[in-house]
Amino acid sequence: MNIVWGVTGAGHFLKESYEVSKTLAQKHQITTFVSRAGEEVLRMYGLLDKLAGISSGEYLEEIFLESEAGKSFPKTGRFLMRRYDALVISPATSNTVAKIVHGVADSLITNVVAQANKSETPVYIVPVDISGETESPLPYHIDRELCKKCDVCPPKDACPEHAISDQIDLLKCTGCGVCIDLCPYDAIMGGDVRIKIRDVDIRNVEALRSMNGINVLEHPSEILTVL
Ligand SMILES: Cc1cc2nc3c(=O)[nH]c(=O)nc-3n(C[C@H](O)[C@H](O)[C@H](O)COP(=O)(O)O)c2cc1C
Repeated sequence: MNIVWGVTGAGHFLKESYEVSKTLAQKHQITTFVSRAGEEVLRMYGLLDKLAGISSGEYLEEIFLESEAGKSFPKTGRFLMRRYDALVISPATSNTVAKIVHGVADSLITNVVAQANKSETPVYIVPVDISGETESPLPYHIDRELCKKCDVCPPKDACPEHAISDQIDLLKCTGCGVCIDLCPYDAIMGGDVRIKIRDVDIRNVEALRSMNGINVLEHPSEILTVL
């Protein structure tokens, strides 16, 4: 199968989505479309470079970044040319879900969904904000209570991206983790954060479920059973 995988800027389910796409790539060709926020967030979690192992760059195995995709997203026209058999959006941010249910198609991923619907290509979406509360992984950050502001800061000196000052610049951080073991006070960490799901996001996911041509999945692993 020729599968399109859309990645939006959610930390939640990001690693799980990557693992599932890696498994699928053993049997299928995968083209990856990445939103602007998705590109940043993938980098923060150390996953952006790893995507190259999934979509090699060959025809129908490319990676398309929204930051390089123009305003009219010409590559999404491939859906209308029936080049793809299925579209997966995982993880799908609450932002992207909200746009899809309102018919907005002004970003790479929402446009991909619109073109998939117009070409009657099956769409599978894994929203991150479904109901209740959730635990989401944090990118690396400095615990201000543990940081002693040492004159010589080994993590800062070792960071290949020069992303560390009195905080970590997440737009530079690539999540490589080199810094973690170098702080003598263990002040650099990842960890999880608890998030309450907003009512509006719950309603939007319900609206998404009722849309023709769209299948809502609860977890990225379900993709392996439907494709
Ligand atoms: C580290 C990080 C993690 C994020 N995780 C989520 C998330 O789990 N769910 C979500 O809806 N937005 C999350 N966001 C916010 C989105 O990236 C932001 O709303 C963005 O505008 C979404 O754009 P997109 O839908 O085009 O990808 C996160 C942002 C950052 C910096």
